[in-house]
Amino acid sequence: MSGPERITLAMTGASGAQYGLRLLDCLVREDREVHFLISKAAQLVMSTETDVMLPAKPQAMQAFLTEYTGAADGQIRVYGKEDWMSPVASGSGAPTAMVVVPCSTGSLSAIASGACNNLIERAADVTLKERRQLILVPREAPLSTIHLENMLKLSQMGAVILPAAPGFYHQPQSIDDLVDFVVARILNLLNIPQDMLPRWGEHHYGADD
Ligand SMILES: Cc1cc2nc3c(=O)[nH]c(=O)nc-3n(C[C@H](O)[C@H](O)[C@H](O)COP(=O)(O)O)c2cc1C
Repeated sequence: MSGPERITLAMTGASGAQYGLRLLDCLVREDREVHFLISKAAQLVMSTETDVMLPAKPQAMQAFLTEYTGAADGQIRVYGKEDWMSPVASGSGAPTAMVVVPCSTGSLSAIASGACNNLIERAADVTLKERRQLILVPREAPLSTIHLENMLKLSQMGAVILPAAPGFYHQPQSIDDLVDFVVARILNLLNIPQDMLPRWGEHHYGADD
């Protein structure tokens, strides 16, 4: 199996819930164990942007997402925002990679400053301190100096900043194609196989397509 077997997936309250849901779906299909965290704001965004009505409580959310994605029992683990006893809260138990998608500018700031005021911020802090793979997918426009400084700081600490900014050279026909563009880039970084977007040089994009 290439890429990490266990991954922390955190969704925060930036626009783009579809990215997080699609990544969850892809990780399940690639037989990964997903430790799933979601902020209150992300749940509001999800109900605004999609038809997915997530139950609020972690246990019910876990059952819902397991059924929604067709995951095996125990493949998706959902933790509450103050579940400090969960594996993601400590370097000895946390997965080797974490993705925050979408990443709000608020969570970006909290992670950059090491706030650790909720489990998402703590899990990201653990990922940084253990020098593990942290991928942040911010969405905001325009970007303020504060946002840019936070991104620079995080990049210098080893995090990857992957803006939710789909390209158009693959000639997207639908919103799903645009979502897949960003999710494919995340999977490439994780070294997890994906067939949504050919790697550059493996396919000729052009008028013949
Ligand atoms: C519908 C909706 C869309 C939002 N879009 C964004 C966004 O694109 N980027 C962003 O940084 N914040 C956005 N916000 C604001 C954040 O949700 C808000 O700052 C929240 O405090 C973030 O909290 P969290 O980081 O704990 O999820 C949006 C909020 C709502 C309700």
